[in-house]
Amino acid sequence: DKIIAIVPAAGVGSRMQADRPKQYLEIQGKTVLEHSLNVLLDYPPIAKVIVAVSKDDPYVESLSFLHREEIELVHGGDSRAESVFNGLKQIQDAENTWVLVHDAARPCLTHQDLDQLIRVVDEHGAILAVPVVETVKKMTIDRRILATEDRSYFWLAQTPQFFRADLLKKGLAFALERNLQVTDDASAMELIGFQPHLVTGRRDNIKITHPEDLALAEFYLAKKLT
Ligand code: CTP
Ligand code: MG
Repeated sequence: DKIIAIVPAAGVGSRMQADRPKQYLEIQGKTVLEHSLNVLLDYPPIAKVIVAVSKDDPYVESLSFLHREEIELVHGGDSRAESVFNGLKQIQDAENTWVLVHDAARPCLTHQDLDQLIRVVDEHGAILAVPVVETVKKMTIDRRILATEDRSYFWLAQTPQFFRADLLKKGLAFALERNLQVTDDASAMELIGFQPHLVTGRRDNIKITHPEDLALAEFYLAKKLT
């Protein structure tokens, strides 16, 4: 079976409060999206990278390696789920394809992370994640503490997330048809009865979300060897 990467890059980055979507901010002379794509393009098991970009995206055409034959662009949607779904629609032979879905906003991914993840070949799928380190509080509607959860059961989901293309497509279709909000791909698989595996990732693999994350990503990228 072959592996195709799908990169949702059609968000607006509202929490980042920058002058452009965060995937187009530069770190060390390259955009965040270029950093993320480079890791995927240089990883031999990946045959192709489908990038979902916003319909009226003025930045994408200036990307350096846009014309590489392994890259395919599709239009994103109003939600991350829709953007990924649009990418999945481009895959012809979904029954025999595995997809790695990776946020454009996570530029610090490494090949070692990918090695760990694609080792799990199971129809339930698998995701990179890290154990929660802080104490987890569940809140009441008026923001008081209802309960303290047992931290050892809680993980923070990262990307990439790895699934059989046909199954993820089914899961996302299920969520989108019912207007169920899913903020990652594993959630869509859970909705149709799967239990994806948690693969221990690295805390460096941050999602650039708030302004202060940019400097952190720059630090991690500088110390990254791959
Ligand atoms: N994404 C997408 N299509 C959307 C929304 C998000 O492709 N309609 C992508 C983003 O570009 C990002 C990834 O999904 O690479 C993770 O989403 P998030 O971190 O929430 O990015 P934004 O939605 O852009 O940021 P914000 O929620 O702060 O507006
Ligand atoms: Mg968002």
